[in-house]
Amino acid sequence: MLGEILLDVLKSLRHKRQSHSDAPVVLNVGTQAARNTSVGGWSHSDAPVVLNVGGGSKRIPIPTHYDGWQQLLLDVDARVAPDIVCDARTLVSRPPAEFDAVYCSHNLEHYYAHEGLTVLRGFRHVLKENGFVEIRVPDLDCVMRYAVTRNLSLDDVLYQSPAGPISVIDVIYGFRQEIEQSGLDFFAHKTGFSPTSLRTTLERAGFESVFVFPRSDAFEVRAVAFKSAPTNDQRRLLGVDDSADVG
Ligand SMILES: C[S@@+](CC[C@H](N)C(=O)[O-])C[C@H]1O[C@@H](n2cnc3c(N)ncnc32)[C@H](O)[C@@H]1O
Repeated sequence: MLGEILLDVLKSLRHKRQSHSDAPVVLNVGTQAARNTSVGGWSHSDAPVVLNVGGGSKRIPIPTHYDGWQQLLLDVDARVAPDIVCDARTLVSRPPAEFDAVYCSHNLEHYYAHEGLTVLRGFRHVLKENGFVEIRVPDLDCVMRYAVTRNLSLDDVLYQSPAGPISVIDVIYGFRQEIEQSGLDFFAHKTGFSPTSLRTTLERAGFESVFVFPRSDAFEVRAVAFKSAPTNDQRRLLGVDDSADVG
């Protein structure tokens, strides 16, 4: 997970440095959208729009339930050529109710706890009234339990990733190799989540319906949260079912 994500980001950056002609593709609709988001009507398509916050690269796949959607990539790192270069802590200053969904994978842990709340309020602000947010973050409860059960120390390897071994400390504080090589502070993890704390944070940010799904095999937790009650179509799309919500 963490390693795969970072490898994708690194590959995307390397690729970009090597060849401009073969740079990662930014969908035309995304580029158009990035220019015109403030005036609305930036897409002639009727497809719903998902804002991928801290997406890193369009080469990093998002869940297949967004197939057919327009994806806008937002990132603070201009090197990855996002559609919107933006610090997600400032989303509240963007126009309201622009997007049908916000997808945010392995990004929320990159803010201090109080800033994370600001970011989530920003998500709520840019979502349409029937919109939802889908979050994935490392599950530190799960990592702690795993480490204690196996008597692991901070530097012990938790799992192997394509980018190299990921130790317990990398999941807690961020991938040391990436932080060192980039020299960029925003790759560090500044807070952490459990299924319960992710739910509480989403509720504090004002989301009406929150569903939390721990994925212990991936040391992560997924949450889906709605501004208003989810429709049956949304429940089906996202696999949201009250009985599956265990956080
Ligand atoms: C670990 S990567 C996750 C990439 C991708 N979302 C995924 O799950 O594969 C974290 C991303 O968050 C971005 N990021 C960090 N701080 C940010 C901020 N303040 N605003 C927006 N994006 C930020 C980084 O540039 C990076 O692309």
